[in-house]
Amino acid sequence: MNHLSMFLLVLVTCALSKNEKLNFFPNLPVGEYKVYPKAIIQCKQKQHLFEYNLYLNRISSNTSEVKGNITCMKPMDDSDNGEYKVYPRAVIQCKQKQHLFEFNFYLNRISSNTSEVKGNITCMKPLDDSDNIVIINAVKDSIGGWKDNALILKISKACSSFEKVFGNLRTTFNLTTKNNNFNRNCPYPAGVYVSNGFDFTSFMANAILPKQYFYGVYKARFEMFDKKNNQIGCVIFIIEVKRPWETE
Ligand SMILES: *[C@@H]1O[C@H](CO)[C@@H](O)[C@H](O)[C@H]1NC(C)=O
Ligand SMILES: *[C@@H]1O[C@H](CO)[C@@H](O)[C@H](O)[C@H]1NC(C)=O
Ligand SMILES: *[C@@H]1O[C@H](CO)[C@@H](O)[C@H](O)[C@H]1NC(C)=O
Ligand SMILES: *[C@@H]1O[C@H](CO)[C@@H](O)[C@H](O)[C@H]1NC(C)=O
Ligand SMILES: *[C@@H]1O[C@H](CO)[C@@H](O)[C@H](O)[C@H]1NC(C)=O
Repeated sequence: MNHLSMFLLVLVTCALSKNEKLNFFPNLPVGEYKVYPKAIIQCKQKQHLFEYNLYLNRISSNTSEVKGNITCMKPMDDSDNGEYKVYPRAVIQCKQKQHLFEFNFYLNRISSNTSEVKGNITCMKPLDDSDNIVIINAVKDSIGGWKDNALILKISKACSSFEKVFGNLRTTFNLTTKNNNFNRNCPYPAGVYVSNGFDFTSFMANAILPKQYFYGVYKARFEMFDKKNNQIGCVIFIIEVKRPWETE
């Protein structure tokens, strides 16, 4: 997830002005979750072909709008974005400290060119809507360094918002527990949820995400925070967004 979400606002803005045929969030119920922009950071190492000159404009004590512009030096065409498949390249644990939610995922190579994600999610507290998810995205630039993308997204109601975009946690992550009598949907009680393996590429393909995207390698950092803004979970996925006909 999101790393991709991070880019959505940017993409929607650009798409609306440049490419009317893009169809974002075809089925997403409007108003069922809130996404609050927290900050916009320009990456000012060098002039880019696509400049995201976006900034937050505070319109009340608790709401901000995204303003500014996206300057495209070259056409937004299929050489840079389009239909895609997403391949997992690595899962990195953020190991600063013990968290209430531990995402012990790893990649399990099942053939020369495919990997499944396995491992477990260990929840010391129920996974419900009292927490928030922040997605911080970085893209690998042409010289191999990580470049922060323009947006940091905060998604409130962690559990149900996540299920709206990615589908039921139990089935999409192929989860089981010791006795297997956990809830069908959010909230999920505390416990260890073992993933028997899931295909990350179809997981992303089935999610409600833009049908077109920028190709490249991304570092998507998912962080979970409680109401008091303490970090309670963190995992990083390195993912590659490729053209549908390109094999791994
Ligand atoms: C786009 O944003 C940049 C940086 O804020 C600004 O210098 C430029 O004038 C803007 N262009 C338009 C057309 O609004
Ligand atoms: C912002 O604050 C106002 C007044 O305190 C409240 O009515 C409104 O629901 C809040 N909006 C959001 C998006 O939290
Ligand atoms: C969950 O993953 C951790 C880290 O890989 C491992 O130590 C632990 O045994 C796993 N728990 C279960 C129930 O699979
Ligand atoms: C769930 O895991 C089982 C056991 O490894 C596997 O056979 C099955 O294909 C997986 N289901 C999905 C939807 O990935
Ligand atoms: C993996 O390689 C096999 C044989 O080379 C090919 O048929 C298959 O389409 C490839 N799968 C992916 C996901 O690239």
